[in-house]
Amino acid sequence: MSTPVSGTEGYAEAADELFRRYEGIAAADAHRAILHLIPRSPCRVLDIGSGTGRDAAWFASLGHRVVAIEPTDALRLPAMALHPSPAIEWLNDSLPDLALLRSRGERFDLVMLTAVWMHLDQVLRQRAMPNLADLMRDGGTIIMKIRHGPVPPGRRMFEISTEETIEHAGLYGLHQVFNLRTESSQEANRLAGVTWTSLALVKASK
Ligand SMILES: C[S@@+](CC[C@H](N)C(=O)[O-])C[C@H]1O[C@@H](n2cnc3c(N)ncnc32)[C@H](O)[C@@H]1O
Repeated sequence: MSTPVSGTEGYAEAADELFRRYEGIAAADAHRAILHLIPRSPCRVLDIGSGTGRDAAWFASLGHRVVAIEPTDALRLPAMALHPSPAIEWLNDSLPDLALLRSRGERFDLVMLTAVWMHLDQVLRQRAMPNLADLMRDGGTIIMKIRHGPVPPGRRMFEISTEETIEHAGLYGLHQVFNLRTESSQEANRLAGVTWTSLALVKASK
């Protein structure tokens, strides 16, 4: 059996429940805080760790072309079946290297990392950041939604310093345009002390 991609631990086993949970929330509600940062005219979106494909389908419905990266087969394959759209390309690739995607030399206007960054340890985040910057067009935006607080059983997750992430991103020409910390919208998680950071960074135009 091949070694699972670091960060994906626990996802395949929970796939059925995650489809129920993630698909039960409208993407526009999940992303209410950063709606104003999503381009209105059609653009190229990269959704990394696309899970059940809810967000990829939403971006496609808004007229964008989407590349959805998801290394967990038990999520990506049913996601493709649930959200068939010619505007979405699904790829089995992963952070930190995104080797398959990067070999194509494409650039994106919007990169989404929703509930993914905290699955990478510091070494993997160091490797991933320049690759993310490289995938963005000048003037493009990356939006990260980062979970803080107790780690769900069976998951590989790390406490991330938002300040450190902003500083690290700055080394690759990405500067902060939005930074908001909120409580979890799910009652059980809120009571357990889960909070989220929504962070948006723009790549400087040369
Ligand atoms: C909490 S889920 C979020 C799914 C989706 N973005 C959403 O918000 O509904 C985290 C996702 O990140 C994926 N993931 C974990 N480690 C990853 C890695 N190293 N590279 C890419 N995706 C990863 C998991 O397979 C899972 O689908």
